[in-house]
Amino acid sequence: MDRFRVVGPNRLEGRVRAAGAKNAALPALAATLLADAPVVLRGVPGVADMRTMRRLLAHDGVRSAELNGSPLGVSGAGGAAAAAVAGESVLELQPSTGPAPDEAPYELVKTMRASVLVLGPLLARRGHARVSLPGGCAIGVRPIDQHLAGLEALGATVELTAGYVEARAQRLTGAHFRFALPTVTGTENVMMAATLARGTTVLENCAREPEVEDLARLLVAMGASIEGAGEDRITIEGVERLGGADHTILPDRIEGGTYLIAAAATGGDVTVDNLDAEHLAPLLEKLAGAGAVVESGPGWVRVRRDGELLPRDIVTAPHPGFPTDLQAQYMALMTQARGHAAICETVFENRFQHVPELARMGASISVEGNLAKVTGPTRLSGAKVMATDLRASACLVLAGLVAGGETMIDRIYHLDRGYEAMERKLQSLGGRVERIAGP
Ligand code: EPZ
Repeated sequence: MDRFRVVGPNRLEGRVRAAGAKNAALPALAATLLADAPVVLRGVPGVADMRTMRRLLAHDGVRSAELNGSPLGVSGAGGAAAAAVAGESVLELQPSTGPAPDEAPYELVKTMRASVLVLGPLLARRGHARVSLPGGCAIGVRPIDQHLAGLEALGATVELTAGYVEARAQRLTGAHFRFALPTVTGTENVMMAATLARGTTVLENCAREPEVEDLARLLVAMGASIEGAGEDRITIEGVERLGGADHTILPDRIEGGTYLIAAAATGGDVTVDNLDAEHLAPLLEKLAGAGAVVESGPGWVRVRRDGELLPRDIVTAPHPGFPTDLQAQYMALMTQARGHAAICETVFENRFQHVPELARMGASISVEGNLAKVTGPTRLSGAKVMATDLRASACLVLAGLVAGGETMIDRIYHLDRGYEAMERKLQSLGGRVERIAGP
């Protein structure tokens, strides 16, 4: 298993470019199961989860090929030229031409719970889907009851047998459904299924993440009729078929936000290109409040810090609240702020696994339930630490950049799921980070 060797303290300086968002590309890939013509996706990030999703689609008969990024006529911000940036691929997905399984096998789902995103499209397009239950993961139980309730509201019969969800429907029928709580992939799954249902579907209490909006843009380009994506009420008029499209994936606000936090943590000066400041408003407000200087323009955000860091409390919440996916990285930052910062995690029940690892590096953090209290500033020292989940890994890299000495981070495969070549991007900013290939 690969490891990272980080030597600090480091001051990051320069420009990096955010890749396409993993959490927009995953539903976009799943949506191609709905199409009866080829779909071109640009700016697909070169991360492990993309390879897993492509394997899953191939299993279900949808083949994907990397194009050379040539401008075939572009849609969306950025376009082919931008999407041809190293590490981001242009994929062409061909619809299935013959009988193929309608399933997501356990072997794939256990490595990536977002595999559940094929459930809605397979059901809507083929009338049947058999998807392994994702099971819990490091950050929580993460059930999919709302996904299933939404599909049942559209007329599907859903059975749970031997760890698999089996869903059937001759043809789905539009319905009015209210989610018990905002769920990102739940909203995406049911929205995709509703595009081919007969009649009108109104979904209430939807997730409002920009990635939901980006998926709707792709579906509309394929011929769907969707109003309100990005708000808590989405209306979908079912259509008979969905065709091809040429779509550029939304930039990754979580990857970009990670590098901006790193700039503030290391007392550096970093500009992230291919990033929409509007999608990071809660983070940027906190960074400015903590004493960093935040500037932004069309497609870029810059954060620098040369003064003292002040503590600022956060409460994570569904968009437009502070994103839970930046909570761990922000905690690393608060170890350097003078005073006490309270970090409340309201989205997942077990997303503080980075705390004991930070403590081993010298951080002073106390946890009570879903509240972590960080006291700083503490001088972090390099240590051997272990990544436990995707964003906890990023937190440890940031801590390693701040700490004095060498930090060895094990199980970097967690990081590779959502960050494309992080060591190269950090090296380009002056970070002393190297990947040590391991067995
Ligand atoms: C998406 O996960 C993201 N993944 C996560 O990113 C992100 O942390 C999360 O949204 C919250 O923003 C993708 O988009 C692929 P949820 P998702 O359904 O959809 C509960 C990362 O680091 N819930 O919005 O699985 C659930 O347990 C990953 O990139 C139910 O109870 O999250 C959680 O407590 C991690 N029943 C809360 O809702 C359901 O049917 C929010 O989960 C569905 C969810």
